[in-house]
Amino acid sequence: MITFSNIHKTYNPGKPNQVNAVNGITLDIKDQEFLVIVGSNGSGKTTLLDMVAGSVLPTSGSITIDGGDVTRLRDYQRSKWIARVFQNPLSGTASELSILDNFRLAAIRTRSKGLGIGINDTFKNQVKEKISTLGLGLENKIYQQMGTLSGGQRQALTLLMSVMDSCKVLLLDEPTAALDPRSADVVMRTADELIRDYRLTSILITHNLKDAFTYGNRIILMGEGQVKKDISADDKKNLKQADLFDWFS
Ligand SMILES: Nc1ncnc2c1ncn2[C@@H]1O[C@H](COP(=O)(O)OP(=O)(O)OP(=O)(O)O)[C@@H](O)[C@H]1O
Ligand SMILES: [Mg+2]
Repeated sequence: MITFSNIHKTYNPGKPNQVNAVNGITLDIKDQEFLVIVGSNGSGKTTLLDMVAGSVLPTSGSITIDGGDVTRLRDYQRSKWIARVFQNPLSGTASELSILDNFRLAAIRTRSKGLGIGINDTFKNQVKEKISTLGLGLENKIYQQMGTLSGGQRQALTLLMSVMDSCKVLLLDEPTAALDPRSADVVMRTADELIRDYRLTSILITHNLKDAFTYGNRIILMGEGQVKKDISADDKKNLKQADLFDWFS
């Protein structure tokens, strides 16, 4: 579904501040695989995700998504298939708009004939129904400004919005890093459900080793811009949480 062939990314090439963020990664992420990426700060995790999204283009190597070569496609040319949730709950939604208007924007973003979506009752009810699955009571607050919600509430809604339409890939870059444990739990469980329901291929970056252990069906450890360990779904079943901690010691 997503393939990296000998991908390199060098920031500021030839300058004193040159950084080789990704150093020759070859990786084949299968359709509907849920890949978890762990690794220390600066190991190139976000750079790798940015290259799937197209917000960063590789220095060399090639990337395909769903069989098509996307190596040189910019992020807006891929956004139809790719949903993304960032670490910062303020990213990804418009704080001055209501919950309902944010959902409307999200629906328009990924639809080619987007202008047909009005604030009619059908759409409103669809949004309420979706929101109620979170169990946060937000379905009764669809006219509330996004900016007045807590980080956890926003992050849960961002997640729901990001997979409104027929996207194929979900990218999660430390989506719970800024959240309290209960909100983090709601967001991760919602992500897991959406990934199953929509049969998404997904990548989660996390520093939370409990989440890395609990979620996903394959796990890789990144270090110095390379894949240092790659644990398949079968092997992950035999992995113990303590083994994961050992990787970092
Ligand atoms: N836009 C940029 N310009 C220059 N250097 C960058 C840029 N983005 C990232 N880097 C550098 O590339 C390396 C990898 O960064 P990256 O953000 O991919 O790491 P990460 O594994 O996501 O780290 P963290 O766990 O802290 O989020 C780091 O040394 C970082 O400083
Ligand atoms: Mg990062």
